[in-house]
Amino acid sequence: MQRHCIGVFDSGMGGLSVLDACLRAAPGHRYLYYGDNLHAPYGERAEGEVRALVRQGVRSLMAAGAEVIVLACNTATALCAQELRRALRVPVIGTEPDVRSAARVCRHALVLATPHTANSPHLRRLILRAPSCRFDVLPLARLAGEIERYVRGGAAPDLSVLPRGEYDGVVLGCTHYALIAPMLRDYFRVPLFDGAPKTAGRLARLLPRLPVRGEGRFFDDFFKKTNTVLGTDDHLCPMSISNICLLYHTEINTNSEIIFLNSTGFINKCAYKQMFLSSF
Ligand code: DGL
Repeated sequence: MQRHCIGVFDSGMGGLSVLDACLRAAPGHRYLYYGDNLHAPYGERAEGEVRALVRQGVRSLMAAGAEVIVLACNTATALCAQELRRALRVPVIGTEPDVRSAARVCRHALVLATPHTANSPHLRRLILRAPSCRFDVLPLARLAGEIERYVRGGAAPDLSVLPRGEYDGVVLGCTHYALIAPMLRDYFRVPLFDGAPKTAGRLARLLPRLPVRGEGRFFDDFFKKTNTVLGTDDHLCPMSISNICLLYHTEINTNSEIIFLNSTGFINKCAYKQMFLSSF
């Protein structure tokens, strides 16, 4: 199997849910995760500012050798996917609210999303293509930020402000929401629809067709510089180089490597391990 270097971008921790789906659908590759926690949430920032932050994050992923970019963020997908596809020499896979799956089984569903996603022509188009279901779209400026703080040990988000009762499905239009899926399921008591598996499926189908660029140098250099021996699990590494996470996916007997980029890499790595790693 040819190993590829996959760059995953989100405003913060939400993209960890997409990273996890990608690791399951496409294991054995090298993943770079860029979470822009310092500027999260993007919900209340001006559109131009969000675009600039996404460009900057994606540039870092490209500089580190990403051969494909996964926008693990509905907001970045709605605002920047088209522009990035024109500008980059590598494929860009987006994440979008899975209204299509919801429309197959629901009659009246609620879409929870950040204001940029909620008001985007992209979401309007998706909803128009799923006419068998009525969708109410609820823009939530603060929930992603509350979730980000909650995962880091803060108070649980207050869900009581969300409407319920009349819906037979809820679409998670922001990757942060997947991090509190059990709480949302408890609250709404209807099926939730998360876009992450679709994104991961697109990645898994693309990888075998992706040209080999030999861009794994960043990983090799990183391991060399930090004296990490490839094949050792990261709990054996000193804390100072803790942005590395090596996963052994026992179910299918292959391994994946993740490097969490930027100054908040350690936070994202810990959050990932805390929320998802026990299942490996
Ligand atoms: N997780 C991102 C999304 O899917 C953005 C959340 C935010 O920073 O507001 O939309």
